[in-house]
Amino acid sequence: MTSEHFGAGYYRRFYGRSPVHTADTVGHLAAGVLHLAAWWGVRVRSVLDVGAGPGYWRDWFAAQHPGVRYRSIDVSAYACERFGHEQRDITRWSPRTPADLVVCQGVLQYLDREAVARAVTNLAAATRSLLYLEVPTTHDRDHVVDTAATDLDCYWRSGSWYRKQLDPHFMAVGAGIWARRSAGLPFYELERSR
Ligand SMILES: C[S@@+](CC[C@H](N)C(=O)[O-])C[C@H]1O[C@@H](n2cnc3c(N)ncnc32)[C@H](O)[C@@H]1O
Repeated sequence: MTSEHFGAGYYRRFYGRSPVHTADTVGHLAAGVLHLAAWWGVRVRSVLDVGAGPGYWRDWFAAQHPGVRYRSIDVSAYACERFGHEQRDITRWSPRTPADLVVCQGVLQYLDREAVARAVTNLAAATRSLLYLEVPTTHDRDHVVDTAATDLDCYWRSGSWYRKQLDPHFMAVGAGIWARRSAGLPFYELERSR
């Protein structure tokens, strides 16, 4: 999907009157992710938010953890100008230094298969310890998402297809959190998928 897809109308529609999520709900999510990171012994000193859109994670970190180094990127010229991110395309870019936590919420469904593969490689290079990833699958479209509030104009793929992309770099540790395999974090066997 080109960056023109993500203009003012897109953010009005999906973050306006009946948003898919809000600053409040994202605050609960961010607090949960940080608490789990602390439980696993990961100190989050730096965060990269990929496809940051309205910037709810950035606002939460600024209010709750102003000492954390926070960087947000988005492919959309409009979002970068309006919400204050660096304009970057995760399919073609990764940072010089990895972040302790990478957030990628609601982005990969807009990329074709080859672009997802490139994005996952770049996400892996960008992640020192943990990735928070949300991407709706075909199953979610059919059984979980609120189809009135969600953008359905994207690529729909199975969870197992996404797992195949992620597995070489990450292991799933629950609730959308993926641990970088190379970080060697000591999870109990039943805390992680495999
Ligand atoms: C559904 S919004 C999610 C925004 C935010 N992460 C959230 O959960 O509220 C998708 C965002 O991903 C961005 N995006 C799409 N493709 C991208 C890419 N290749 N690189 C970086 N950002 C991208 C879009 O511009 C848009 O802001």
